[in-house]
Amino acid sequence: MSSNTPVPLAQNFVVGRVSPANPVLLAPMSGVTDLAFRRIAARLGAGLVVSEMVASRELATADDEARLRAEGEGLGVHVVQLAGRDPSWMAEAARVAVGAGASIVDINMGCPAKKVVGGHGGSALLKDLDLATRLIAATVAAVDAPVTVKMRLGWDADSIVAPELAARAEAEGVAMVTVHGRTRAQFYEGRADWGAIRAIVDRVSIPVVANGDLVAVEDAPAMLQASGADAVMIGRGAQGRAWFPGMVAAHLAGRQVKAPDLDMQRDLALEHYEGLLALYGRDVGVRHARKHLGWYIDAAAASAGTPVPAALKAAAQSAPTAEEARSAFVAAYDKLGWRAAA
Ligand SMILES: Cc1cc2nc3c(=O)[nH]c(=O)nc-3n(C[C@H](O)[C@H](O)[C@H](O)COP(=O)(O)O)c2cc1C
Repeated sequence: MSSNTPVPLAQNFVVGRVSPANPVLLAPMSGVTDLAFRRIAARLGAGLVVSEMVASRELATADDEARLRAEGEGLGVHVVQLAGRDPSWMAEAARVAVGAGASIVDINMGCPAKKVVGGHGGSALLKDLDLATRLIAATVAAVDAPVTVKMRLGWDADSIVAPELAARAEAEGVAMVTVHGRTRAQFYEGRADWGAIRAIVDRVSIPVVANGDLVAVEDAPAMLQASGADAVMIGRGAQGRAWFPGMVAAHLAGRQVKAPDLDMQRDLALEHYEGLLALYGRDVGVRHARKHLGWYIDAAAASAGTPVPAALKAAAQSAPTAEEARSAFVAAYDKLGWRAAA
């Protein structure tokens, strides 16, 4: 599809009292959607950005790491995602998040990780809709801001509960639901089922966001068409490509879309890198940045159409100091630039 093909752009995408600039959301990703990353994605055109999931009890008890994950300084409108299974902690954490500037509170009912499911949070809630409903009710009652829920289709193929959960959420006053088109049993296997999201769209009147496997701008109109959803959410497709949600938003608006050139990609990646060092301190920041540097180099190689400079990538990811990592990283871009020009 060319970038000028008319697409089924949702009109008036509104989340409670919040009107995002466009219907493209950056997904919550633990260890990935740190504040530095969200700031860049938002500036480059993501309609809404969502924090890493924050454990509700930790946020409510003022744990430093939880506070950092929920931080939104420098962002305008932003979403803080809470995880947990105790309605009173969830309510208190929602108050803390909104008090600290969150525009929207999202509840995680999709995380498949054993650690989260073992504590009966995340997608474990798909097996206990009564508890899920109590959590939602407590959160909605606690804050004046819109509350949203992110879920998977169900626990497994035999228990597709997302339509029922979405209907209950709507009845409790939730302003939007996001559905990842996989079950918990699938983890990240197979393909996200965009068509299956339509059953949720048909069941509720609140906006529905479709999520799963959006990796190219052309996927967005196809996802909206297949699901009937109002908006799309991008997770892994934005790793190493903080600009990608903005590109998708431009495509949906019928504008010409071009990825930033290599120099711009490098500068944005370095902005993210410096942001991580500032957020976490140099020692922790350098370790935290490693995966991002790898993703940025992979994305740059893909957009330049040249092989990944493996030795420089490894050097950037294993360097013990921030300065060494930075120079290996910049050298990787120089190499990519020469190869692309050759
Ligand atoms: C590294 C990683 C961390 C994630 N962390 C969260 C999280 O904190 N909260 C959440 O609701 N989903 C989380 N997810 C799921 C994503 O938000 C998204 O639903 C999923 O990756 C499917 O979308 P995608 O195919 O665009 O990546 C995570 C996914 C990944 C890959």
